Amino acid sequence: MINLTHNQNSSQLVISHQAQSLQGNITIPGDKSISHRALMLGAIASGETIIKGLLLGEDPRSTAKCFQAMGAKISELNSEEVRVIGVGEKGLQEPFDVLDAGNSGTTMRLMLGLLAAQSGKFFSVTGDDSLKTRPMSRVIKPLQEMGAIIYGRNNHQNAPLAVVGQNLKPIHYHSPIASAQVKSCILLAGLMSEGKTTVTEPALSRDHSERMLHAFGGKLEIDQDTNSVTIEGGTPLQGQTVIVPGDISSAAFWLVAGAITPDSELTITNVGINPTRTGILEALEMMGADITIINERETAGEPVADLQVKTSQLKACTLSGAIIPRLIDEIPILAVAACFAEGTTIIKDAEELRVKESDRLAVMALELGKMGAKITELPEGLEITGGNPLRGAEVDSYTDHRIAMSLAIAALNAKGNTIINRAEAISISYPTFVNTLKEIFN
Ligand code: S3P
Repeated sequence: MINLTHNQNSSQLVISHQAQSLQGNITIPGDKSISHRALMLGAIASGETIIKGLLLGEDPRSTAKCFQAMGAKISELNSEEVRVIGVGEKGLQEPFDVLDAGNSGTTMRLMLGLLAAQSGKFFSVTGDDSLKTRPMSRVIKPLQEMGAIIYGRNNHQNAPLAVVGQNLKPIHYHSPIASAQVKSCILLAGLMSEGKTTVTEPALSRDHSERMLHAFGGKLEIDQDTNSVTIEGGTPLQGQTVIVPGDISSAAFWLVAGAITPDSELTITNVGINPTRTGILEALEMMGADITIINERETAGEPVADLQVKTSQLKACTLSGAIIPRLIDEIPILAVAACFAEGTTIIKDAEELRVKESDRLAVMALELGKMGAKITELPEGLEITGGNPLRGAEVDSYTDHRIAMSLAIAALNAKGNTIINRAEAISISYPTFVNTLKEIFN
C-alpha cells in the first residue's frame, strides 16, 4: 500500500509492502531546467512567448513569481499553455519587495546574471533555508569581474543577497566547475553587456540555455573542443513558442524502478534526451539495464524519445569524470540502483552533490544505510555494494525532492514498512509522482 498523509506543513509517504511488479505507461512532467529558462527568456524577450508542457512544480513557480514581481506578464501556470509577455532585456522593473527563489538554485543563480545588469535598479533576493546555505559565490565572483555590485551574508557568499544593477563589461570566464547554472548566469549577464562574453568549463554541463538563447535570437558561438560558449551582448531576444520535453531526471526514477523491481515493464513517453543529460542512460546501460529508446524525434530544438524499461539483473559500475555533470541529479537514484546490482559500484568526482538541495552524498549514505544498504560515503562520492536485501525503515528527505523520490523507489523493493518524512519536497520537481507510483504499482 502507498499512502501520502499531510500533517500541518509536512507530509509522510508510507510504502508498506514490496511491489510484485510495475507495469504501465508513464507521462512525466516537463523538464525543470527548460521550464525555468523558458519563463526567464520569455520574461526578458520582446513580445509573447508561449510555453507548452511547463513543469508545474514549486521551482518554476518561484521563477514565475520573481519575474512577475519585475513586470513580466505571465498567465496562470498550467501545462497546456502558459503565455509570457516580456519586458525586453533591460526592462525588468525594480521589485517592491524581496524576490524569493524558494528552494530553487537555478532561479537564484540565473536570475542574478540578469539583475546584476539592470543599471540603476536595486534588488534583494532570498530563498528557503536550504537555498540560503548554498554557495552563491560561484556566480557572484565572475559577476563582480564583470562589474557587478552584489552583497550577501557570509562575506557575500550566501543569500539573502542585495544587488545594485550596473552596466556590465564582458569577460572570458574559466569556470572551475562544470555547472550549467554558473555558465547560464554568465551568459545571461553577457547578453546584457556590450561585446562578447565567453564561458569555458572543465567538462560540458547541460546546454539548454545555449539552445534556447539561440532559438530566441541570441548570437552564440560554441567551441566543442574547449567546452566554451561565447555570447554577443546587446542582441535583442524575441518571444518564441517553447515545447518543454519531459524531464529525464524525473524519468530516471522509473528507469531504475523498472530495472530493479521483479516482472516489470514501463514505457515512459516524451522524455528529453539531450546528450548533455543522458549520462543516466549510459550508466544504466553499463549496469546491464534493459532499456530501449524508441520514437526518437526533435521538439523545439531538443531531442525527445520514449523509453522502455524491463526488469534485469544489474551489475556494478564505476562512474567518474566527464559523465558526472551529465547525470549529476541522478546520482541519488543511481545509488538505489547500485543497492540491487551485483558487485561494488563506485561513484567518484561527485563533490558537487554536497551543495545541492541537501548534501546528497551524506544523506543517501545515511538514509539508505538505515534501510540496510551497504553504502559508504567517500569524500567525493559513494561506494555501494549491492545484493544486501533492503528493509523498510523510517527515513527523511532532508527537504530534498530527489532524496524523497529515490527513497520511495528503494522502499518499493524493501521488505516491510518504509516511512518517508518531509515527503512534501517531491512537489519541487514532480507533483504527480505519488499518483503515478500508485497507478503502476502491483
Ligand atoms: C541545473 C543545473 C544543475 C542541476 C540543477 C539544475 C540547471 O546544477 O543540478 O538541478 O537548470 O542549470 P549545476 O549547474 O549547479 O550543476
